Amino acid sequence: MAIYQLPLRELQGLEELKQVEIRLREVCHGEDKWTLLFSSVLQGGKRLRPALVVLCGSFLPAPRSELVDVAAAAELIHAASLVHDDIIDHADSRRGQPTISKRWGEQRAVLYGDFLFAQAFTLLTNHGHTGILGNMTRAISLMCQGEIEQFNLRYDCRLSETDYMSYIHRKTAFFLSACCLSGAEVCGLSSLQQKSLAAFGLQLGYAFQLTDDILDFRGNTSDTGKPVLHDLAEGYLTLPVIRLLRNNHHGPTVRQIIESRNFTADNLAYIKMALESTGILREVDQKARMIIQRAKQNLARLPNKPPRATLTSLANHILQRTC
Ligand code: IPE
Ligand code: IPE
Ligand code: MG
Ligand code: MG
Repeated sequence: MAIYQLPLRELQGLEELKQVEIRLREVCHGEDKWTLLFSSVLQGGKRLRPALVVLCGSFLPAPRSELVDVAAAAELIHAASLVHDDIIDHADSRRGQPTISKRWGEQRAVLYGDFLFAQAFTLLTNHGHTGILGNMTRAISLMCQGEIEQFNLRYDCRLSETDYMSYIHRKTAFFLSACCLSGAEVCGLSSLQQKSLAAFGLQLGYAFQLTDDILDFRGNTSDTGKPVLHDLAEGYLTLPVIRLLRNNHHGPTVRQIIESRNFTADNLAYIKMALESTGILREVDQKARMIIQRAKQNLARLPNKPPRATLTSLANHILQRTC
């Protein structure tokens, strides 16, 4: 499990994150044998969202059990979204194991995803904090809208950079922002500081999805635990491909491959090569770098305490991640 955790020294000793793991083990299955079998999807994963809740909730003394429950709920919501996302994306592997849909069928995967959402809400309602409940329900609602939008735009070569930023805002960035905001609310930071952390999380989320989309071309399954060269084969045009379609030399061929849905291994290898040789992957990486700079500027308003330094390291890590 350790190789998938965020490799940041500062996170290793955090008692709250250890308790999140215990809470996750308690609630990721019911009394039946099936949910117990499916719960292995909770193993592994970088635990980025709980780390954001815990760090943003550690600027001031906070009720520990509430912070742990909110952080565990964030991971359960994320895991539920992954279980459902893997059905939609026809993905075979997740976190280094077969997906639930591949191993146990789509019907069971739908139900287990729903179960995880329900378990998350059980934890969130333990504390009666309606603000946090509102952040999380809004994030789930936007995540679904972003996923629907991305699905509807498959194979559409007219897709613009603005369309892309709009759907990643909804499917990924807003949830990371909600995690930061929820932590900030648990520890009672001022509303200005809460807003700064929410803005930090949003920028982090954009950069995180950009690096995820780069890893689909540059990464490998043994590191990421999920399929590579898979987004395009499913018809999802991420930023690197959107830019390649605008390239005078390669654009027409790439358009033809996408519109005819002719994703042979040779054609995918050609697109991967063109993304490197045109420098487009480097440019997208550069864009992620600029967004991370912007994210870090939001931390200036926060007290100069250990969580601020750790959030800075975490933001820097997003740019170097291989999983
Ligand atoms: C994957 O998230 C889904 C995206 C939003 C890109 P993570 O890369 O955080 O997945 P785990 O939790 O480490 O498995
Ligand atoms: C992330 O979408 C899933 C959600 C935000 C719900 P992706 O489909 O891009 O993520 P991976 O690559 O499968 O992890
Ligand atoms: Mg997917
Ligand atoms: Mg998807």
